[in-house]
Amino acid sequence: MTESDALRASGSSSIAVIPGDGIGTEVIASARAVLDAVARKHAITLSYTEFDWSCQRYADEGAMMPDDGIETLRGFDAILLGAVGWPGVPDHVSLWGLLIPIRRAFRQYVNMRPIRVFDGVDSPLRTAHDVDFVVVRENVEGEYSEIGGRLNRGFPDEMAVQESVFTRNGVGRIADFAFELARTRRGYVTSATKSNGIVHTLPFWDEVVAERASHYPDVRLDSEHIDALAAKFVLQPQRFDVVVGSNLFGDILSDLAAAVAGSIGIAPSANLDPSKQYPSMFEPVHGSAPDIAGQGIANPIGAVWSAALMLEHLGYAAAAGEVMAAVESTLAAPETRTGDLGGRASTAVVTDALVARLQ
Ligand code: NAI
Ligand code: MG
Repeated sequence: MTESDALRASGSSSIAVIPGDGIGTEVIASARAVLDAVARKHAITLSYTEFDWSCQRYADEGAMMPDDGIETLRGFDAILLGAVGWPGVPDHVSLWGLLIPIRRAFRQYVNMRPIRVFDGVDSPLRTAHDVDFVVVRENVEGEYSEIGGRLNRGFPDEMAVQESVFTRNGVGRIADFAFELARTRRGYVTSATKSNGIVHTLPFWDEVVAERASHYPDVRLDSEHIDALAAKFVLQPQRFDVVVGSNLFGDILSDLAAAVAGSIGIAPSANLDPSKQYPSMFEPVHGSAPDIAGQGIANPIGAVWSAALMLEHLGYAAAAGEVMAAVESTLAAPETRTGDLGGRASTAVVTDALVARLQ
């Protein structure tokens, strides 16, 4: 048992908090208030260490995080992040200066995004009733590889090459994660592919997923081409349980799914190292929303749901379940919905309602 396992067994976890920029700081304050309330009730000790790593820090000090940032995070049980990004700092700087190094250094090879259409939240789709599924995205290889380059810059024959990397280990473990997750749900996995057009990597993906499927005879597997799958997300979203895709396919599908669910303000995500060797990172799907930052009107539910995923990952399933029950009843009441959901509630009103339900 490592030191952090021993602490967890005694109901104690250390959390690195990176609020980031814009509404990131507002929604993380809300998530912390909710975590404190549920922790008190369940006698869990959560110790937080907050870091100011952000575009603001980049502007002041020339880097999103210090040189030893990854080493600093390594000792924590989990990372809770708001959002990073601010006008004037190119988005690739904020992404490659913080989020991507964390995901890769800590082998967070699963990006998990649950999607639900809650009572009280209007989906833009007439068809979206009883929608409850999870997109599982491969998070460290595939199309988002650093292998490639550019040649003949500035000449008419200028070219760019980027290699997609699919490994047996990488595809196998994300497939295993999807099958294991489906076992705890409705037992149905849909694998996103395009093996008719992409003739090397995606037939390989299909083969490895099918091989792994043979170890889960209790789980049903369908493979669907990404184009048809995108159409089905819109036409029959209630059909899905667990959808697994490569880095690029999973990225696009999860944003589409978040839109189906009604607002990006409620969508959560978890970047997981399922082996628990390294800290996993939990963050709402939305960005720093400079257009509404500082007004106290951001929807905190995406951050709160992400915090619930963190509790579950840390082994506090009962506490996570209570946070989700509080989220459901808060969304169901018109007076505790924020502007993105057609309501008038402030971030503080929603937070107070969540905390009151956890007392
Ligand atoms: P965004 O998600 O920040 O905002 C998109 C739209 O949704 C805006 O109109 C915003 O007001 C609204 N919105 C987002 N979250 C909301 C919430 N919780 N409550 C109510 N309304 C909400 O995406 P955008 O505008 O493309 O990006 C803004 C900045 O955030 C950029 O610098 C971008 O790079 C960064 N970003 C960071 C992410 C991260 O840290 N993981 C993810 C996405 C964007
Ligand atoms: Mg995306």
